[in-house]
Amino acid sequence: MERVSLTVNGSAVTVRADHPHLLAALREELDITSPKDGCSPSGQCGCCTVLVDGKAQVSCQLSLARAAGRSIVTVEGLEPAEAERYAANRFSRKFQAPATGIAL
Ligand code: FES
Repeated sequence: MERVSLTVNGSAVTVRADHPHLLAALREELDITSPKDGCSPSGQCGCCTVLVDGKAQVSCQLSLARAAGRSIVTVEGLEPAEAERYAANRFSRKFQAPATGIAL
């Protein structure tokens, strides 16, 4: 089975190439659950936002082919101060989507 190599939260990983998008690979194969599936694959809610080479991007619209070789950071990979800021922001804004704080 074909595999795709990328870096997730600072670690080199390989995932199956048959996932429909990066979000599925993160959640289903790597057990990284901070990016949520709120509307995939429409890309409208922002719940699946991650950093891709330092830029916020919805992971349900990113194919594994386009994610290959790139650096992905999820909330699990944030520095403690960044994660704390994310959590504070998340709970201070009642209707904020879970992962939108990652863009702060
Ligand atoms: S799950 Fe809603 S934008 Fe990706």
